[in-house]
Parts: sequence; C-alpha cells; structure tokens
Amino acid sequence: MILGGGSNILFTEDFEGIVLKNNIKGLHIHEETDDSILVDVGAGENWHQFVLQAVDNGWAGVENLSLIPGSVGASPIQNIGAYGVEVKDVIVSVEGVNIQTKESRQFSNAECQFGYRDSIFKREEKGKWVITKVRFALRKNATLNTTYGAIKDTLDRMKITAPSIQDVSQAVIAIRQSKLPDPAQIGNAGSFFKNPEISVNQFASLKETYPNIVSYPIDATKVKVPAGWLIETAGWKGKNFGTYGVHKDQALVLVNYGHADGNDIKKLSESIKHSIWETFGIQLETEVNII
Ligand code: EPU
Repeated sequence: MILGGGSNILFTEDFEGIVLKNNIKGLHIHEETDDSILVDVGAGENWHQFVLQAVDNGWAGVENLSLIPGSVGASPIQNIGAYGVEVKDVIVSVEGVNIQTKESRQFSNAECQFGYRDSIFKREEKGKWVITKVRFALRKNATLNTTYGAIKDTLDRMKITAPSIQDVSQAVIAIRQSKLPDPAQIGNAGSFFKNPEISVNQFASLKETYPNIVSYPIDATKVKVPAGWLIETAGWKGKNFGTYGVHKDQALVLVNYGHADGNDIKKLSESIKHSIWETFGIQLETEVNII
C-alpha cells in the first residue's frame, strides 16, 4: 500500500502487508516566462507547504487549496478541490512508476481523466502506480478566483477590496479553520462523503418539502446538493457517541475524539447513508478510502 499523507484513509483493521510512505521531496522550476511558471514537485512534499511556497513566490493557482491536509502526490488521485478550484485546473502532468513492471510514465492532464474527487488513479489504474512527481502550471499577475461565497464574505470582513494571492490564501485558511477540525487535534479524514448529484426533477420535488435546500447547478438535467446540508437536516450534525461523532461545525466530517475504532466510524457512516436514503431518497457515496 502506498500512503501519501494518510489524510483520506480510514483503517478498520491492520493492513497485512507493506505500507510505503512516499517521502519524495523537491521543488524544481521546469520553465518560467513573464506570466507563467511550470513547477515540478516531489510527490512526498506536504501539500500546504507547497501552497505556501507558491503564494510566497506570487505564483497563483493553488491559493484556494490552502490548508488541505495531505501530500502533493495524493492531490491528483482524488482531484482535491475547495472554494471553486480543483487541482486538475493547474496540473500539467503526473509522473509515476508502475509497481508491477517498474515502468516509468508520465500521465498528461487528459490521461488522468479527472472528475469530481475522481481520477484514473481511483479507477482503472488504482493501486498500480507510485506517483513520484507532479507538474503544475501556475500564473504570475493572475486574476484570482474569489467567486465562492464564503471567500467573498471573509475578504469583506477583512476589509480587503483588491485581494492579493496572500489575502485569498489567508481567507481560505480562516474559513477552513472556522469549520473543519484540525486532524492533528481531532482525528478526521475531511469530507466523508461526496456531494451527490441528483436530477432537477428530484430536486424540484425535494424543494417542495424543504424550501431551504441548497444546490449547485451542473447542467440542464442535474444539480449537486451539499451532503453536509442533507446530513444536518436529517439531524446528525454534532451527534456525539462518546469516542466518535459528527463534527459540530460541518456535518460532512466524521470525527474520532480519541479512542474510537475505525469500525465505529464506518458503522456511523453506514447509518448516515441509510438515514439520508430514507429521508431524501438520495444515495450518498463515500469519499474516504476505507481499508
Ligand atoms: N452545509 C450545511 N450544514 C453543514 C455543512 C454544510 O447546511 O453541516 C451547507 C452550507 O451552509 C453550504 C453548503 O452546505 O450552503 C456547502 O458547504 P461548504 O461550503 O462547507 O462545502 P461542502 O460542500 O460541505 C465541499 C468539499 C470540501 C471543500 C468545501 C469548500 C466535497 C465532498 N467537499 O464541502 O472539501 O473544502 O466544499 O469548497 O466536495 C474534502 O473533500 O475533504 C473537503 C473538505
């Protein structure tokens, strides 16, 4: 088993085998022009440290992804995303070594087949590659993406009208710290479920019963509904079962307060899935890797 930062994994039993923690380091500028930069980053680099380095250098593109736990090499696997940006927007290519054949290969952005919290490394190529390096295309003098509601509100509160890359990063850090538990303090793997996509027809009928239901448009036939809203509305937010529970500030995050077993969390996730199905007729999909 290849582990990145281990931040998106729930262990329910011991793993019978070798676990390899990727620690490949380094940041190397591959190409630089007046307005762009191609940078190669070792897969074992800490994601947030890379973001801070980019922000410090004035390279835009990853500031909305500040404070996401995990490693650079894990970022393409589930196409990490937050506040209107996904890592696929800045990835040029991903380099890896095939565990069976020892062949080294570069996957272009298109070959990674990125989707919402998804890539070829979670499907056909799952478990086959050790990712060694990721190439990012970042921009100088860039227009920043502050369209995500919470970022705008936070910048307004900070009284910032013309935000710099640093300001956006600081705003994102503040939002995350206000809602998401720090895994170094309280065990958690971030969002436990993906935000489900439902048909516009199902959404219209749910809206009759739940006029406050939140949604994000996808296309003419589908909308995305925040799983956190569904879980909160079904009454799970802040539920505490002693050693584990549902986070009080973000219902999409399941937490281990200290000595819970991975199976406790897994069972809780199954109860939540069942409840969301019974209440809304929506099937939640797990986002965390369960071992
Ligand atoms: N909401 C609730 N109750 C909750 C949580 C959320 O009603 O307990 C509502 C919020 O009020 C808001 C909407 O749901 O209207 C969306 O909430 P939020 O902005 O917190 O984002 P999210 O959809 O819950 C997703 C990602 C997060 C990412 C944030 C910000 C997924 C599965 N999760 O969460 O990613 O940080 O957007 O962009 O897409 C992760 O993947 O581990 C992760 C933390």
